[in-house]
Amino acid sequence: MKRIGILTAGGDTPALNATIHGAVVRANELRVEVYGFIKGFSGLFNPRVPHVHLNPLFQAIPELDPTVGGTIIGASRAYLDPENHEVVNEFVARLHRLQIEGLICVGGDGTLNGMQPLAESLPVVLAPKTIDNDLGLNYRSEPDEWQRKVMGTSHDFLYERAAASSAFDLEQMVNYVTPGFVTSVFVTATSIQRVRSTAESHRRIAIVEVMGRHSGYIALGSAYGCPDIILVPECPLDVDRLVQRVQELYELQKNVVIVCGEGIVNQQGQELGAEQSSHDPSGNKILNGAADALRQILIEQIGDQYFKDMRRGETAREAIFTRKVGHTQRGGRPLLFDRFYAAQLGGKSVELLLEGRNNNVATLQWNRQRGFYLDRFEGNGFRDRWGHIHARTLHPSFYDAQQLKPSRAGIEYLLPIFTRAMGQDDAESMRDTLFAPGNLLQPYHSLNTDMSKRIRYLE
Ligand code: F6P
Repeated sequence: MKRIGILTAGGDTPALNATIHGAVVRANELRVEVYGFIKGFSGLFNPRVPHVHLNPLFQAIPELDPTVGGTIIGASRAYLDPENHEVVNEFVARLHRLQIEGLICVGGDGTLNGMQPLAESLPVVLAPKTIDNDLGLNYRSEPDEWQRKVMGTSHDFLYERAAASSAFDLEQMVNYVTPGFVTSVFVTATSIQRVRSTAESHRRIAIVEVMGRHSGYIALGSAYGCPDIILVPECPLDVDRLVQRVQELYELQKNVVIVCGEGIVNQQGQELGAEQSSHDPSGNKILNGAADALRQILIEQIGDQYFKDMRRGETAREAIFTRKVGHTQRGGRPLLFDRFYAAQLGGKSVELLLEGRNNNVATLQWNRQRGFYLDRFEGNGFRDRWGHIHARTLHPSFYDAQQLKPSRAGIEYLLPIFTRAMGQDDAESMRDTLFAPGNLLQPYHSLNTDMSKRIRYLE
């Protein structure tokens, strides 16, 4: 192969540039040109195919810095509809006209679904990314456990999991962790530590909402910030147990910090805060308001009198507050773990294409003997029998529903990832750059301005 393409699809992460950089470095060694498509799949919807040559003369362009969060080639949640053959053919024709011989899609489960139709016409591989850490399997046979029921119309399905039929061990996990997750947990854990000061000083109950959709990995990892209670989407909310635990803690320490995943559900399986009718362009339900809904439940269950009796002098409404970590958990400088493995996976993706693999995923594996290592997995291995890719959720053994905390197995899962996740340079960089006097004087210079000058079009 002489020329390959790369695109970044789905929500951004701090490690996307690191993945592109790893791919470009490996491509330089192998003397392969890399074209970056602008804004994920949406660049290919445009007949002029805006793109950037990322390694002219087999040198990475200077804008491509693996320590900078986000993606210099832009991202979007536009995906290709496999049923729309006309558009699929147009995409392929555009790629051929640009003499692209293979494509790397940097993305998550949505991207893996989206790249499938292209894989029938040219070699395509996925370099994983997602802060949600939901691209992967707890064990290989997990997709076979899905069952589906037809709802209302014949195209409307309800997917449900049958009980697991195999024993679980961490070493069986496919794609143990995805780049972006670690930095995201770093931001959420830091936010939790910081909110504790106010909760402690003002005798309040803080509820911090973190991302992750229906997967509780970010919430689980936020245990590093030492919250008192963690609620994950995989375990339906037990209001009585929650209220009991909140009161126990409040009476002991006069403050409580609760973390909730944005996708937490009630006993009926309904999301606490989701806007039921709204979906983002890739069809994902937009999850919003879990922390506020939880606050309302606690206000009603605990009531003003409780706080008066505790001589707090505040109403429940005043004593219980919410904060969303929001998009800060998806941005900024990636930590060493994310940078390093994102780059490795980018490089591995180039190798997979050059080995002649198609519809493959570069994966980051872990076992007790080797620690982390790279491997590959067939894209179809992530699909259920109907071809659907489901977001990975926490294995039930990772969470202790009684203590409302990570279980022993959950802690064992986190340790290899986080114990050496931060590099010295991560702390140094913060020290050197945040209060640099130049920040006060210079207007922000967006990389987009420089990248626009590099964009080329298919004539
Ligand atoms: O999938 C990544 C993610 O950050 C989710 O955790 C979150 O629900 C969603 O994207 C937010 O998407 P947007 O940036 O489009 O609001």
